[in-house]
Amino acid sequence: MVFAEIPYKARIELKDKQVTVRGSKLLLDKVAALKAQYGNDPHKWPQQRVGSGEDILINEFIMKANFEFKFCYNHEELCHCRNVPTEKVFTSIKNECFKVEDVSRTTLAGTGCGSCKKDITDLIEQFKKS
Ligand code: FES
Repeated sequence: MVFAEIPYKARIELKDKQVTVRGSKLLLDKVAALKAQYGNDPHKWPQQRVGSGEDILINEFIMKANFEFKFCYNHEELCHCRNVPTEKVFTSIKNECFKVEDVSRTTLAGTGCGSCKKDITDLIEQFKKS
């Protein structure tokens, strides 16, 4: 099984060669369009131009299906002052926090010594430009 999710908000899952999705109407419409054009196999889906958190979630799902998903920051904890996991920062980005200040407000990452702000920026850029 392969899945990508924004906890409590959205999830795309591949199980038994079937893609299921729950979340916003925008996400449902985007996944339906991909399935209609490229079929039920996410290996054939193209990466989406990022304009929303839904696009990041779809790209995460495609990368995971192709075993290509990897953060540019490869430690479990991104902010050591506030003990914020990298996954939590990524979830914040998927919730459309596309600026360091927004990520800091929602996760507290970057609100101590500030040395992790560059890593937060890199993570935002990794997924916004995919
Ligand atoms: S390591 Fe994130 S604020 Fe210090």
